[in-house]
Amino acid sequence: MEVTARGKLSVRDLDVAGKRVLVRCDLNVPLTDTGEVADDTRIRASLPTIGHLRERGARIVLMSHLGRPKGKVVPAMSLAPVARSLGELLGIEVRMAPDCVGAEAEKMAGELGDGDVLLLENVRFHAEETAGDPDFAGRLASLGELYVNDAFGTAHRAHASTVGVTDHVNLAAAGFLMEKELEYLGSATASPARPYVAILGGAKISGKIDVLENMFGRVDAILVGGAMANTFFRALGYETGDSLVEDDRIEMARGLMERAKREGVELRLPVDGIAATGLREDAETEVVKVSAMRPGWTMVDIGPETVTAFRDTVVEARTVLWNGPMGVFEMEPFAGGTIAMAKALGEATRQGATTIVGGGDSAAAIRKAGLAGEVSHVSTGGGASLEFLEGKVLPGVAALTDVDAGAVR
Ligand code: 3PG
Repeated sequence: MEVTARGKLSVRDLDVAGKRVLVRCDLNVPLTDTGEVADDTRIRASLPTIGHLRERGARIVLMSHLGRPKGKVVPAMSLAPVARSLGELLGIEVRMAPDCVGAEAEKMAGELGDGDVLLLENVRFHAEETAGDPDFAGRLASLGELYVNDAFGTAHRAHASTVGVTDHVNLAAAGFLMEKELEYLGSATASPARPYVAILGGAKISGKIDVLENMFGRVDAILVGGAMANTFFRALGYETGDSLVEDDRIEMARGLMERAKREGVELRLPVDGIAATGLREDAETEVVKVSAMRPGWTMVDIGPETVTAFRDTVVEARTVLWNGPMGVFEMEPFAGGTIAMAKALGEATRQGATTIVGGGDSAAAIRKAGLAGEVSHVSTGGGASLEFLEGKVLPGVAALTDVDAGAVR
């Protein structure tokens, strides 16, 4: 079963004027060594909901986690830099509460005027957050009169601020980012325009197996790249050199290839790759056929023949879903295949296809290549988008108010 935002209360349904609205965002952004926001994508993605609430005179109390401080106050994981960055983007002062619960947070929330924005300190500074503690959830909930969850990136976590809090409010609505993410990712799993092509990459089959299985029966073709292809090569009896191979998944890879054949799904592996003498930017490299890999070398990217073949398939598709890089894209000499796929998605988009990048590393890669604006949607979720694509119910979405449940649950 899939839970989409359809059937759930939306932020646009709420009467928010003069009310305190508690908004869970995913403002878990990378910080620089000097403690500044290194990538504000998730902050910008939260602006439509915040802007909508401000325009309607809501008093906004934002909460989020940052990193994994494991229930302790870790100053390096403070949301203070996020408050500064958000304030600059909104052109207002975003006040920062020193804690997410307690007298000071209550006082600051009580002082908000219409259109004001307060950011609570990292909810994960309390162990009760990840434990989903009901009392803690109640204390968070008391800071607002209405609750909005816009944290798609954290929707796969059943935590106090994403799920527990909904037991203590009358209305829990989806924010615009949450809705947009579910709409795009849902379109890739529900009734996609065909041909529908999924590109899967990344290091391990084990991390993508459930996505792969969920894609069978939905897609016309699955293009496999990244280190996970090596496990398939081993299943085919090829030499894989020093490449990453999951020995305990070789049988699984064999089973997937057999299943694809049985079910008429085109499961395509690279035909050539870039082999390197090591995982170093200055390593010696060579284009090799995947069946002629050299012992002692490492496969670091898909090769030119594969790029052309994958590109040709992608540009003919009407729906494309991409999750996982094609090679070691963090190292420039090995980023070519990943960048080529990003460009192919851009081309497909221009020809009218819906193209979705399923978050995590592939989202980082397409942003690094400066091509994020060329595709239909780049998910802000890593684990959340993966779980959605695996067909799992996201607890943060399931907990929102059902519209047919009436005004009060
Ligand atoms: C993410 O970055 O994927 C989300 O913010 C969730 O973070 P988490 O994996 O620490 O729960």
